[in-house]
Amino acid sequence: MKNLKIAIGSDHAGYELKKELIEYLHNNKYEVFDEGTNSIERCDYVDFAKKVAIKVAKKEVDRGILICGTGIGMSIASNKIKGIKAALCVTEYMAKFSRLHNNSNILCLGSRTVETRENLKIVKIWLETDFEGGRHIPRLNKIEDLEKENL
Ligand code: RB5
Repeated sequence: MKNLKIAIGSDHAGYELKKELIEYLHNNKYEVFDEGTNSIERCDYVDFAKKVAIKVAKKEVDRGILICGTGIGMSIASNKIKGIKAALCVTEYMAKFSRLHNNSNILCLGSRTVETRENLKIVKIWLETDFEGGRHIPRLNKIEDLEKENL
């Protein structure tokens, strides 16, 4: 599952963790697209959620990672973009099943709610787990129908 193209973004609260994750991604041969922010200066998570989510939705990258203080703002914002299935994960179990069952294409992380070491483990399992398909496909099709009907 290597050589995936990954877009990554954060706000100021997620900036330090983003740096750690970029190092991890480079070391593990992922192709990384850093969409900012580029400092700890206060900014709005929505702007970075938008950049990463659009890249994922347009299939310019395979998947995205978004980090803010709790991961909540990033997940709310990125899920507004058609085609995005962003999963806020605070455990490895959630990360694994967000791929197996939900085929999540964006992982949202909380830098203030989860230890860096744990976030790294969450990222690893999320990147290395494939969608299971099968009985989950019709459920995801229903989510696509919701988008068509409401967005
Ligand atoms: C920034 O203070 C904080 O609100 C943001 O990082 C995030 O947690 C929002 O959901």
